[in-house]
Amino acid sequence: MTTEQTTHSQAQGAAPQHVAIIMDGNGRWARQRMQVRSEGHAEGVNSVHNITKVASDCGVKYLTLYAFSTENWNRPTEEVDTLMRLIGTAIRNETPELKANNVHINLIGDIARLPEDVQADLEAGRKATENCTGLNLNLCLSYSARWELIRAVKELARRAANGELDPAAIDEATIDSVLATAGMPDPDLLIRTGGEQRISNFLLWQIAYSELYFTPTLWPDFGKEEFLDILDNFRGRERRFGKTSDQVKSEQS
Ligand code: FPP
Repeated sequence: MTTEQTTHSQAQGAAPQHVAIIMDGNGRWARQRMQVRSEGHAEGVNSVHNITKVASDCGVKYLTLYAFSTENWNRPTEEVDTLMRLIGTAIRNETPELKANNVHINLIGDIARLPEDVQADLEAGRKATENCTGLNLNLCLSYSARWELIRAVKELARRAANGELDPAAIDEATIDSVLATAGMPDPDLLIRTGGEQRISNFLLWQIAYSELYFTPTLWPDFGKEEFLDILDNFRGRERRFGKTSDQVKSEQS
């Protein structure tokens, strides 16, 4: 436990409604064991399973997972193929339990770029859980924030050109409404595993006021205990949204 972390019993503030995770470290996990990178990704699927379960059990409303970035298409073809197969298989295997746990699968990203059979598996999972009202599981696939922002800007430009939108009236809500996360609250907490301290083109608009947590734990080793410790750490933070600490305290009392 680092000095930044608190124990579960010290938790004070509200639990995060929306947790976003950059799942990093699968390749290093495999290398440490003299295994091929795909073994790390396969093990990473177990962490996806475990963290989704604990997030669902502890009342997180949105869990957004960065599973495959736009930039990941540049990895060796063999690794991309393996990841695509793993994602398709995982969604097929996991959908019944997700549905039983009332988890709603939502797909975010340029899904049309994925292999057609994987798209079909994802769509089947999405469709099977569309009436679920518990945890919203956002799977970001072929996603990057700049991809999302370019798409959003094009949509607003199209509406303005058609006369449907007054450019002078564009505000934060207008932009929110054309993002892939439209209708969702912004992430309260962004976790990155694997030790790097960067955002890697993830949810750039939405994380304007997210609390950030970087852990050295490699994604396949990331489990329930650490996730709960991080939620406790989050509850102990004062979120000021640009205000002073005194203002925040007087609003709370
Ligand atoms: C980063 O580790 C991880 C990925 C690029 C892929 C993450 C995907 C999964 C865990 C599978 C997701 C499955 C579902 C169903 C959502 P890395 O390969 O960059 O690791 P490294 O930095 O150690 O090389």
